[in-house]
Amino acid sequence: MVSVRLLVLFLLSVSLLGSQPTQSSQQVSSPAHPAGEQSPLDPSSLSFPWSRLRLPRYIIPLHYHLFLHPNLTSLSFTGSVQIQIDVQNNTNWVVLHSKGLHISKATILDQNLVLPVLHNPSHEQIGIFSPRVLSSGQKYFLYIEFEAELAEGFYGFYKSTYRTSQGETRTLASTHFEPTSARMAFPCFDEPNFKANFSVRIRRSQEYISLSNMPVVKTVEVNGGLLEDQFAESVKMSTYLVAFVICDFKSVTGTTSSGVQVSIYAAPEKWQQTHYALEVAVKMLDFYEDYFNIRYPLPKQDLIAIPDFQSGAMENWGLTTYRETSLLFDPLTSSVSDKLWVTMVIGHELAHQWFGNLVTMEWWNDIWLNEGFARYMEYISVEATYPDLKVEEYLLHTCFAAVGLDSLNSSRPISSPAENPTQIKEMFDTVSYDKGACVLHMLRHFLTDEVFQSGIVRYLRKYSYKNAHNQDLWDSLANVRIKIILMYLFAGEHLDLTAMMNTWTLQKGIPLVTVTRKGPRLLFKLQHLHFSVDAPFYFYSFLWQIPLTYKTDVSGTIHRHLMTSPTDSIHIGEEASWVKVNTDMTGFYVVHYEESGWDVMTKLLRENYTALSYKDRTQLIHNAFQLVTAGHLPLNKALDLIGYLKRETHTVPLLKGLGYLEAFYHIIEKRDELDLTQNLGSHLDGGQELTRM
Ligand code: BES
Ligand code: ZN
Repeated sequence: MVSVRLLVLFLLSVSLLGSQPTQSSQQVSSPAHPAGEQSPLDPSSLSFPWSRLRLPRYIIPLHYHLFLHPNLTSLSFTGSVQIQIDVQNNTNWVVLHSKGLHISKATILDQNLVLPVLHNPSHEQIGIFSPRVLSSGQKYFLYIEFEAELAEGFYGFYKSTYRTSQGETRTLASTHFEPTSARMAFPCFDEPNFKANFSVRIRRSQEYISLSNMPVVKTVEVNGGLLEDQFAESVKMSTYLVAFVICDFKSVTGTTSSGVQVSIYAAPEKWQQTHYALEVAVKMLDFYEDYFNIRYPLPKQDLIAIPDFQSGAMENWGLTTYRETSLLFDPLTSSVSDKLWVTMVIGHELAHQWFGNLVTMEWWNDIWLNEGFARYMEYISVEATYPDLKVEEYLLHTCFAAVGLDSLNSSRPISSPAENPTQIKEMFDTVSYDKGACVLHMLRHFLTDEVFQSGIVRYLRKYSYKNAHNQDLWDSLANVRIKIILMYLFAGEHLDLTAMMNTWTLQKGIPLVTVTRKGPRLLFKLQHLHFSVDAPFYFYSFLWQIPLTYKTDVSGTIHRHLMTSPTDSIHIGEEASWVKVNTDMTGFYVVHYEESGWDVMTKLLRENYTALSYKDRTQLIHNAFQLVTAGHLPLNKALDLIGYLKRETHTVPLLKGLGYLEAFYHIIEKRDELDLTQNLGSHLDGGQELTRM
């Protein structure tokens, strides 16, 4: 009888879940049955009901009440989570994420039944079976108790240690969840678009403090002299942004002009190194509130230096975590570049409080919407708050790094599919961060500062506490007012922002624009720049819509032209003696000057290099050597170009040129091309005739 009922229930649940049960490796844990809570079910007769990596969409978590009790002596923790769920289809199963947790009990509150829990470790999922159907349109409280060891690595709820000057080792427990490790700390719906509110409680001994996303509202004493901190309910947020730290750190505190409490936490002996970070964080929050025209929604922002930290920093909402070297600054021993790094990292993580936390990408394939924006905002925010640090100079290097990677056949489009945790982690790369930032830089210059800023404010407002796709960003940027401005800038040219931006985000690689002067016209030819010798010949198979910019010696203005086909031309007249394309390298493309084009540039640099900005000079040097590497330009031409460097007064082009000189010197030396080796030095004397290869 029982098994027939079970079978019916099971078939019902499988059909309701809309998926075949997996036959793959599954483990069944038999929950303990305390007296009076008898489960009528034999778990071994059930099989895991869900075969996909992503969770079913018809159980929506609304609110988590999370309780945690870490033991820093035994290095383990126990916890419970009560999740309010909104059921949108009749079902007997709740499928959610859990990794490495021992589940000791699962129930639906008020049903007084201990429910069987099935595990599918390969998908990091558990399935909880409710013999009573969970009805569509109803809300339930799922309650789960669990325990685990504190993790040994840098993900999940993990152990960290540091040594005092007395040689004593102290322990703390911290979290890092992004992208898929919240499930190591508590069972949850661990996908970015399952946003919910979190109410956290942490039990600790008196020698420690505990921190989480929100401030503590109440601390109560519980049995055995332990204390329990209750944190305020969070705003709606993704699981990967939840964080908690249990430690014995000290802090300094300040307040922003809108009243947000900002604190910097560090190991007690490093407390003196926290003051610079406090100044930066307060300034940055003020800046972002103003720039985004949206208030920071939490009452506090803690920044904490964790002694063991995998990456540079993490943007958990209200509790950003940092590697010590990314947050601490010692005025006596740290360098100016340490200062710049700390400032940029804080600028990055605080930008995420809006880009990423308030508005989150729908799925990890578009992680660039978080990371590309945060990387780009590093430049905008540091330039605005600390202009003396001259952060702008480094944006060129960010774009050069992106060009270097993106010209390899192994590159990928900015938005690329990623399903399993390994693929998702791989998305945090130069393409998402640096190419993402450079493409945004191009877009900002194309649309103008004002239009760009008002477009992203619209995007942030519209998708606050929600998730977004690329398309939502393009739609927010391309409203009617913007269209009018663009029509004015690109008179007569048809502009479809989505079509244009898709060529940059959905296709890998970097365009090579070859420029030729033909009388009064400037001819453009589009190719795909790539370095791999064995790559297929891509000529014309990759298309981009390129917002070209150029300057000439006859007018001081920046000219614009949207190139939408593989060949194109414009009228520029006969008067200009030189034309420099991709002004200040605001565009993500490499320019090749055909025929006598490079000689004209070389002559210009020799005779009057300040006619071009230092960014233009750096970009010419970079492009020339990239073209040598890709086989489009003889090395001698690039060496001729940097002949003027003896007179260069700006460090950025100088270091770029010398860097290439060194790299190519080594190559030439290895190839035993002695003629060239001997001549290399003479290229820098600036006075010689232009050489030919
Ligand atoms: N969100 C990331 C942290 C992260 C990195 C999570 C990789 C998961 C995988 C954070 O905002 C970030 O980008 N951190 C950088 C440092 C930052 C200043 C660029 C990092 O950790 O490298
Ligand atoms: Zn980031």
